[in-house]
Amino acid sequence: MKIARFSRIGFILAAAGSAVGLGNIWKFPYIAGEYGGGAFVLIYLATVLLIGFSIMIAEMLIGYLGRKDTVTSFEELAPKNKNLWKLGGFQGLAGLFIMIFYSVVIGWIFNYIVTSLTSLPSTVEEAEITFNAMLHTDVFTQLFYHTLAFIWITYVLTKGIKGGIEKMNLFLMPALMIILSSMFIYATTLGAFSQAVSFMFSPDWSKINSEAFVVAVGHAFFTLSLGMGAIMTYSASMEKGSNLVKNAFWVVFLDTTIAIVAGLMLFTFLYQYGSGPAKGPGLVFISLPAAFYEMGIIGNIFAVLFFIALAFAGLTSSVSLVEPMVQYFIDRFSWSRLKASISMGLFFYLVGIIALLSNIDGYKEALTWGGKNFFDWVDFFTAAVMLPLGGLIMAIFVGFIVEKQRVESIMRPQLGFAFDAWYFSLRYITPVAMFVVMLSLMGIL
Ligand code: PFF
Repeated sequence: MKIARFSRIGFILAAAGSAVGLGNIWKFPYIAGEYGGGAFVLIYLATVLLIGFSIMIAEMLIGYLGRKDTVTSFEELAPKNKNLWKLGGFQGLAGLFIMIFYSVVIGWIFNYIVTSLTSLPSTVEEAEITFNAMLHTDVFTQLFYHTLAFIWITYVLTKGIKGGIEKMNLFLMPALMIILSSMFIYATTLGAFSQAVSFMFSPDWSKINSEAFVVAVGHAFFTLSLGMGAIMTYSASMEKGSNLVKNAFWVVFLDTTIAIVAGLMLFTFLYQYGSGPAKGPGLVFISLPAAFYEMGIIGNIFAVLFFIALAFAGLTSSVSLVEPMVQYFIDRFSWSRLKASISMGLFFYLVGIIALLSNIDGYKEALTWGGKNFFDWVDFFTAAVMLPLGGLIMAIFVGFIVEKQRVESIMRPQLGFAFDAWYFSLRYITPVAMFVVMLSLMGIL
C-alpha cells in the first residue's frame, strides 16, 4: 500500500507536535521542582544536546530508509540476523504504554478547561482539595474526559498521516505557540521572573542522586519522543530528499525552547503568587489555578488558554504515541487503518481505566506496589527504562549494524565534517551513557 507523505512543514510540525507534549508543560516543571531545579535542568539540557540530537537523527534515518512500520524498518535495514534485529522495532509498544496514563491526564486537562471557564480556586488549599477530589474520588469525571480523549485521538488516527495527523498539527501547533508565547511575555513583566530564572538555572548538586540522574536522562528521551518509534514512524512518511539534520534540529529546538519557556512562565507565576515551585504532578493543576485566581479576570482568560494549549500539546503527542503500532498492524497484518486505530485506541483506553482507578480511594491499595501505584509505575517504567533502552538499541543499530556506507551516503552530505563526530557518538558515547543509566537504575530498584 502506498504511504501518504507529509509535506516538509507538515513533517516538522508533526514531529515537533509529538515532542512538545505534556512532558514539556506538565511533567518537566514538576520533576524539575521535585529534584531541586538547576542541576537537574542542566543534566537534562546536556543530555538533549549531546545524546538526544544524535539519536533523533539516527531514529529519523531508520524510518526514512526503512519506509515502513518500525519492525519492518529494522528488519529491512539489518544486513543479517533480521529476526533478532526486528525486535528493536517493538519499541513502538512503549508508546501504547505511555498512552495508558497520558490519556487520563489529557482528561484532567479537558476537565480544567471547562471548570476554569466558570471558576478558579481562591487559594492553593482550595485548589488542592478540588484536584484531590477529582483524582482520588471522582471516577465519573475522569472517565468521561478520558473517554473524550480516546475518541478524539482515535478519530484523528483513522484519518491517517495527511488527512488526520498532519492536518491537526498544522492547526494546533501554531495555536499552542501563540498562546504560550503571549503568556510568557506577560510573565517576563512580573517581578518574580528573575527568581524563576535562578531556580531553573543555578545548580544545587546536592539535590542530585542517582534517581534524579536517571529521571533527567529518561525525561530527555521522553520529551524528544525518542526510543519508541514515533519519530521513526513519522520519518517513514518524510518526503524523499529531505534534510534529516535540519528536521531534527527544528524538532529539538522547538521542544527545548517550549519546555524552558513553559518552565520559566510557570515558576514565575508560582513565585509571584506565593506558593513557590510546588512538588508533584499537581503543579499545574493545584498551584497554578490558584495563581491564576490572583490575577483577576485576566487570570480566568489565561487559565482557559493555558489548559487549551496543554490539551493541544497532549493531543498532538498522543497521535504519535499510538501511530507506530497502528502502522505496524497495517503493514504487517494488512489491517485497515480503521481497524488498527480502533484496536490500539481501545487498548490504551481500557488499560487507562486501571491507571485511573489506581488513584482512586478504595482501589488504590490493590493497585500499588513498592510505593508507586500502577499509574506512576507505567510512567516511571516507560520514561526511565523503555525509552533509554530503545535509544541504546537504535544507537548500536545505526552505529554498528546498518552498513556504514549506506548510512554515510545519506548522512555525510547533510552533516559534512560533523559526520564523524556523530557516528562516533552513536557508536561509543550514547551506548556508554545509556549503559550508565541502566546501571544506576538497577542500583535504585
Ligand atoms: N514527547 C512527548 C511529551 O513530551 O509529552 C511524549 C512522547 C510522545 C513520548 C511520543 C514519546 C513519544 F514517542
